[in-house]
Amino acid sequence: MESYDLKALQSELRTVLGNGLREEAVELVKELLSKYKSRPEDWKDKVKWSDVKYTRTLLDKGNGFYNLMILCWNTGQESPIHDHPNSHCFMKTLQGEVHEELYKKPEVTSCQDCCGCRMEKIDDRIYKLNDVAHITDEDGFHRVGNKSHVDGAVTLHLYSPPFSTCRKFDDDTSKPTEVPMGYDQDFSEECCARSCR
Ligand code: SIN
Repeated sequence: MESYDLKALQSELRTVLGNGLREEAVELVKELLSKYKSRPEDWKDKVKWSDVKYTRTLLDKGNGFYNLMILCWNTGQESPIHDHPNSHCFMKTLQGEVHEELYKKPEVTSCQDCCGCRMEKIDDRIYKLNDVAHITDEDGFHRVGNKSHVDGAVTLHLYSPPFSTCRKFDDDTSKPTEVPMGYDQDFSEECCARSCR
């Protein structure tokens, strides 16, 4: 049987998401991400580790319809609580284990941008090697991170449609702040010019 490597996954994602993510294709995207079994040789030249914060490496701009990226979480690193503006977030664990804390969307009053109260945690989840997660703002907002004191974690993320800013939320007050979603490395030209055609 031909091996299903990261390039094969990228190629299938391009087919399924080539014109954007239809609601009925959400399960199929999850299946494709599950079908791929992490092989470090596929992505080890794309990882970047930082002692300061988790890193984001863009793999594919998905013809403007999605962004596929690798995130590297050093020990103890985590994201702020954040949303995914009108987008689907898919996440697959490529190495190690990540946790996800799910939060209820904060109440917003008409004259304020937040309720001034603590963010309310509604779930705690662990994603082990090859597990796949999916979230939209309908489900709530989340924080992702690596609780290990010993091992780094690597995750593959797909956002469709792509977004370049999101809101992070203060744990204590729920106050939102708009933040840019930058990249530490960008291999998307390499993908489109050589490997995906
Ligand atoms: C990020 O993309 O920087 C945070 C992780 C996530 O939204 O799942």
